[in-house]
Amino acid sequence: MPSLRREPALLPRPTRLAPRSGHFILDATTTVRVTPEAEGAADLLRILLTPATGLPLAPSPAGTVTLTVDPHLGGLGQEGYGLTVSPHSVLLRAAQPTGLLRGVQTLRQLLPSEALAPAPGVIRRARWALPCIEITDVPHRPWRGLMIDVARHFHDADTLRRHVDLLALHKLNVLHLHLTDDQGWRMPIASHPRLTSVGARRAESMTGPDGTTGFDGRPHGGAYTRTELTDLVDYAAQRGVRVVPEVGMPGHVRAALAAYPHLGNHPDRRLDVWTRWGVCDTILGVHDEVLDFVRAVLHEVMEIFPSPYVHLGGDECPTTEWEQSSSARARATAEGLPGPAALHGWLLSQAGGYLMEHGRRPVGWAENGAVLPPGFAVMSWRDPAHATEALRHGHDVVLTHHRTTYLDYAQDDTPDGPPTQPGPVVDLRTVHGQDPEPDTSARGGGRILGTQAQIWTEFAPAAADLDRLAYPRLCALADRAWTGPTTWADFTSRLRAHIHRLDALGVRHHRPTAPRTAAAPASTTPSA
Ligand code: ACM
Repeated sequence: MPSLRREPALLPRPTRLAPRSGHFILDATTTVRVTPEAEGAADLLRILLTPATGLPLAPSPAGTVTLTVDPHLGGLGQEGYGLTVSPHSVLLRAAQPTGLLRGVQTLRQLLPSEALAPAPGVIRRARWALPCIEITDVPHRPWRGLMIDVARHFHDADTLRRHVDLLALHKLNVLHLHLTDDQGWRMPIASHPRLTSVGARRAESMTGPDGTTGFDGRPHGGAYTRTELTDLVDYAAQRGVRVVPEVGMPGHVRAALAAYPHLGNHPDRRLDVWTRWGVCDTILGVHDEVLDFVRAVLHEVMEIFPSPYVHLGGDECPTTEWEQSSSARARATAEGLPGPAALHGWLLSQAGGYLMEHGRRPVGWAENGAVLPPGFAVMSWRDPAHATEALRHGHDVVLTHHRTTYLDYAQDDTPDGPPTQPGPVVDLRTVHGQDPEPDTSARGGGRILGTQAQIWTEFAPAAADLDRLAYPRLCALADRAWTGPTTWADFTSRLRAHIHRLDALGVRHHRPTAPRTAAAPASTTPSA
C-alpha cells in the first residue's frame, strides 16, 4: 500500500490533484448512490471493478460512494470531473455524464492494479483501499484518439471492443476506424453487397514494404456485420468513446472498384482487390453514378455511426486517370474547374456537402498543396505546416503528424525487431514530446480539436501486433492530449506504475530494448 500522501501514479495526469491522508475502504458492504443521469457511470464502475474485486457496489440511496451529475458545476465542460476521496465517503461529480465516465477511470487507477484484471487474481482481498485525494480534472483537448486501419488487415469486433476499453482507461475518446482501402472494404453496405462479398477479400498480401517483391500466397479477408458495428458504437458510447468511420475517396478505392468496376475511369477493366502496399493509381470516376454511389454509401454510414464527424479520406490520390479520361476532363470543364486535378476537391465537396446536409462534419487528410473544401475538419498528417495552413483557411484541425503519431513506425532502432512501416523511429519519447502548436497567429477561425495516433496495419496482421504498436506509446499521447505538456521524468515515473495496470489487463505491450536519448529530428518530408 502506498505511503500516505504520496501522489498516485495516474495516467493521464489529472489537471489538479492533492493527496490527503487516510484511505476509503471498499468492501462487500459498500453501496453507490447516484443521481439519475449518473446511472451509466455507476454501471460502468461495476462492469470494470466487480469481475476482479468481487465487490457488488450495489445501488442504494444511503451509499457512501456518490456519483452525481450537476449541470451547474462550473469549469468542468463536457468531460471534466471532480473527485473527493475521504475516509468515509467518495464523491464523484461532473457537469455532464461523460465527465463521470472519465472520473470512473480515475477511481479505477487509484486502486491496486489487480483491480483492473478481467478476473480475480490468486490473492483474494475483501477490502480494497482507495487513497484519500482531491482531484479536479479537465481535458486539454476535446479530440483524443486512435485510428486503427482495419482495411490493410482485418481486426475483429472483439479486438476493437478491447481497444475501446483501453482507450477509455487512458481518457482517450475517439476510435477512428479506417474501414476501406485498396486492399479491403470492411463495412457492409446493403445497397452495394459486392463491396464486401468481393471487396473484403484479397488473394494474398505483400510481405515487405512498397517496392519489394515478396508475397505470402495466402488469401486475407474479413468484414463486420452491421450488428457488430452498431454494437461497437453502443459499447464505445457506454465508455465515452466515439467511433468515427472513415470511408476513403477518391483514391484508395481499389477494393470498391474490384466489386463495381463501372465506378472507375475504365468501366470495362477488371481489377483485383489490391495485394500490394503503397499508393495505387486507380481512383473513382467522376460521373453521376459515382455521386449516387457515394451518397448511398454515406447514407448507410450515417445510419450506423452517429458520430458528428465522418472521415472521407482524400489522401494520396494520383490524378493521372482523370487527366487521361475525356469524360473526366469534360466534367472538370462543365463544373468550371481549372483542370482535372481540381476534381479531387470537387468530388470531396460533393461528398462532404451531402454529409453537411445531414448535419454531419466531413473530415479529410491534409494533402500537399491541396486545400480541403470548406466545412471539412482536417487531419494534418504530412507536415505540421499543413495544420497552420488549414487553420488559416478556417478548418478545425486534428494534429496527426506522421513523425510523432504514426505508431506503425518502429519504436526503437533494434535491427532485428518485427517488420514495420519504413520511416523514422517513433519512440516513446518522440510521442510524449509531440504536438508542436501550429502558428496560432495565422488562425482564420479554425480550432485545434486535438490529436490522435495512427496504426496502419500493413505489418500488423494480429491482435497482439496492435497491442505492441499502441502501448506504451499511446500512454504518452494520452498524457499530451488530456493533460497537455508533462515532463519526461514525471511521465516515465507514472508510466512505471501504469505498466502494472497494462499487465493486469493482459496488454501485450512493447518492452523497450535499447532506449534512445534524443527525440527524432523534425522534418517536413513524409515517408509514409
Ligand atoms: C496517410 O498516411 N496516407 C494519411
